[in-house]
Amino acid sequence: MNREEIERAQSEAQAEIGAAADLAALEAVRLRYLGRKGLLPQWMPRLKDAPPAERPELGRRLNALKDAVQEALDRRRTELERRADAGPKEPFDATLPGEWRGIGAAHPISRIIERATEIFRTLGFTVADGPDIETVFHNFDALNTPEDHPSRDPGDTFYLDNGDLLRCQTSPVQVRYMQAHPPPVRIIAPGRCYRRDTPDATHSANFHQIEGLYVDRAVSLADLKGDLTYFARRLFGPGVRIRFRPHFFPFTEPSVEVDASCHVCGGKGCRVCKHSGWIEIAGAGMVHPNVFRAVGYDRHEVVGYAFGMGVERIAMILFGVPDIRLLYENDLRYLTQFGPGV
Ligand code: PHE
Repeated sequence: MNREEIERAQSEAQAEIGAAADLAALEAVRLRYLGRKGLLPQWMPRLKDAPPAERPELGRRLNALKDAVQEALDRRRTELERRADAGPKEPFDATLPGEWRGIGAAHPISRIIERATEIFRTLGFTVADGPDIETVFHNFDALNTPEDHPSRDPGDTFYLDNGDLLRCQTSPVQVRYMQAHPPPVRIIAPGRCYRRDTPDATHSANFHQIEGLYVDRAVSLADLKGDLTYFARRLFGPGVRIRFRPHFFPFTEPSVEVDASCHVCGGKGCRVCKHSGWIEIAGAGMVHPNVFRAVGYDRHEVVGYAFGMGVERIAMILFGVPDIRLLYENDLRYLTQFGPGV
């Protein structure tokens, strides 16, 4: 090892580093010069064999060689890395369609729930909820449902192995809320329900209801009619009328089915209302004294009304959805057409 060899090594190293086409090739050059078995670690111990007068000079040159090689390696590495980051550049085609970044849209069912919540909030209602998996007590017994009522049949309601069930209505939320809060009560409870229905254009094994419950010292059927009229007018438009048809529910007495006059034809009859002029929007009635008894309310002190609305029905009417299954197939092309956001 002498001055010439060191100089030659430096220019060779620099040439090899410059020629390294990628990071792997560069690493091979580094190992050849600076690696454990590389040229410099071999040369260093041989310093002591050089004539003492030349040692300091040779030592300086070896160190300078090492620094120069290291610096050239670093510079080349940065260069190669920058090139790898940039990747192969494809020519930019300004005619390609842009990348679609969907901002999403509220589902029609969510829209109805949001809207109804907003309307009932202006009437002083707050939102309550309860579990989808219910006990027989909350879903049936406390709601005054007779032992032989057909809705209890496993052919109609989904039972779990432990005897609990998937609630077939949002009415058990009435029970839970009254058990936990003293009167007065003014709540709505939107939520999912389950029934063993065969799916068709108007039936789905799971669907949504919005339960309403208003309990105080003096509540009447007239309050129910007034509140539902207000709701229907805010939802469907001014001029909409409400009618009650006598009906039966175990947990209300008297019970009614509630129709709104068709907002499309104004009651004259059209396709939307199936030429009847009316659209059914809810089941309702005055809370049965046995329900108050089951939740520990004094049935001589309080009265109340309750209603249950089918959310899918209302969504289908309001948005003109011809088949309930369209609401559950999750085809974004269908679901986003009702507008962006909520
Ligand atoms: N739970 C009833 C149903 O699912 C609707 C209802 C709710 C009726 C509250 C009266 C009072 O059909």
